[in-house]
Order: sequence, then C-alpha cells, then structure tokens
Amino acid sequence: MKGVVLAGGTGSRLYPLTRVTNKHLLPVGRYPMIFHPLMRLRRAGITEIGIVTSPEHMGDVVNLLGSGSRMGLDLTYRVQDEPGGIAQALSLCQNFVQNEPFVVVLGDNVLGADIGHEVEAFKAQIASGEGGARVLLKKVHDPERYGVPEFDGDRILRVIEKPAVPPSSFSVVGIYFYDASVFDFIDDLKPSERGELEISDVSNMYADKGTLSHGILTSWWGDAGTFDGLEEAGKLARDLFYEELGNEGAR
Ligand code: G1P
Repeated sequence: MKGVVLAGGTGSRLYPLTRVTNKHLLPVGRYPMIFHPLMRLRRAGITEIGIVTSPEHMGDVVNLLGSGSRMGLDLTYRVQDEPGGIAQALSLCQNFVQNEPFVVVLGDNVLGADIGHEVEAFKAQIASGEGGARVLLKKVHDPERYGVPEFDGDRILRVIEKPAVPPSSFSVVGIYFYDASVFDFIDDLKPSERGELEISDVSNMYADKGTLSHGILTSWWGDAGTFDGLEEAGKLARDLFYEELGNEGAR
C-alpha cells in the first residue's frame, strides 16, 4: 500500500513561527514534524510515499528528506500551487497512487503508537470487496477544533468540520484510508465557506454510501498545527524514534 503525507498550507495559526519555514519542518521532539507521519507509515510497512507541499517550501522539504533513502523510504513529491484545502492537495496524488487503496496522513499529526493494525483492518475491508474508506477517531475534550463525527448507533452518519456545537466528543484524526474512488468524489466536491475542499466532505461522501468504517485510537495523539498543539506534541514526542534514527534520518 502507498502512503501520502500532506504538508501544504500556510501554517497561519503558527505565525510568526511559520513566516519563513514550513510548519511541517518545525521541531517536534528531536525531529522535524514531518518525520512523525513518515515514521508511522514506515513502521506500518509503507515506504512508497507521496509528499504534497507548497512551492515556497518544496525546496526545504526536499533538502531535508531527499529521495527518502536515508530513512528507507521512496519519496515522490507533488506541488500544491495555491492553498486549496486538504482534499485539493490529495487530488494531486492521483497519478501517484493510481487505482490502489492507500493511506493519507496529515503532516502535522503526531501519534504515540503505530498504525499497523489499522492498515490491516483497512486491507481486510478492501479484501471483503466492499471498498470504501476508514477514518480514525480519538476522544478529546475540545472536539470543536476538529472534524467531529455524528453517530447513528455505531455508524458514522456524517462528519462536521469544526462544529460550534459538537455532536459527539470525538475528533477525526488526520489519518485516512481510501480506495481509489476518492478521486472521483473529490472531483465532485464544492469549496466550503472558507473556499477550501474539505477532507470532512470527502468522508461524508463515503458515509452517504454506507462505506465509511472507523477505528478508535487509544494512544495519545496531537495535531501540532496550533501553538498549544505544537507545544504538547513536542513534550509527548520528545524522544520518539531516537533509537531508530539517532541524529541521522535526514539526507
Ligand atoms: C484537519 C481536518 C479536521 C481534522 C484535523 C486533524 O483540520 O480538517 O477534520 O480533525 O485536521 O488533525 P486542521 O487541523 O487542518 O484545521
């Protein structure tokens, strides 16, 4: 299975830290933030990875990671010319993933445990012939900051992006599993009020078809895209991956 790491956007919630640096290159523990999604994918056996970032920061990202060989990865890069939302960034990877199911990790998501069992759960879903998508959920005290699932029994009815009144106390974590029909869904998406193609709307297209499954994360999880999130992730992930990477990892 291939992986995609989305590392675009302006990082405006982290200004001025991100005035001249891509958010995903800021430190989280001993490593640049983007090492965290890359290492979780690697530890799940996924080494063919597409990275999407903006033209301003592509040079720095490539300068850091190169071909990926130092980390045992085979990296492909795609440029998102204008910030147009997570789903728009994802659409740039169609030629890279082709017609296979794949996993997407948002570049600012930092996890305390591996996701291999979730990859296996999605492979089983695909093997059963159903196709579809899978999202991961985490119980949080501030769901209004995230995409929030509304349940009908055990099933996700829909995901609401940053709701004023959250319908549950779960956040949709920035790890998504899709079959290749996701690209047709994205083609049909309309921009949200903030002018972006929203990843929650992609989830809703699968939910409407009854093919959106979910898993619950039990490890800690952080979205390092805000200052509080960055600070917390930095503490929780302080020594993560040091045994494997030491002071290396980068090109
Ligand atoms: C994005 C998604 C949101 C998701 C979150 C997880 O939000 O839009 O649905 O819950 O990532 O990190 P962002 O952090 O880009 O505002």
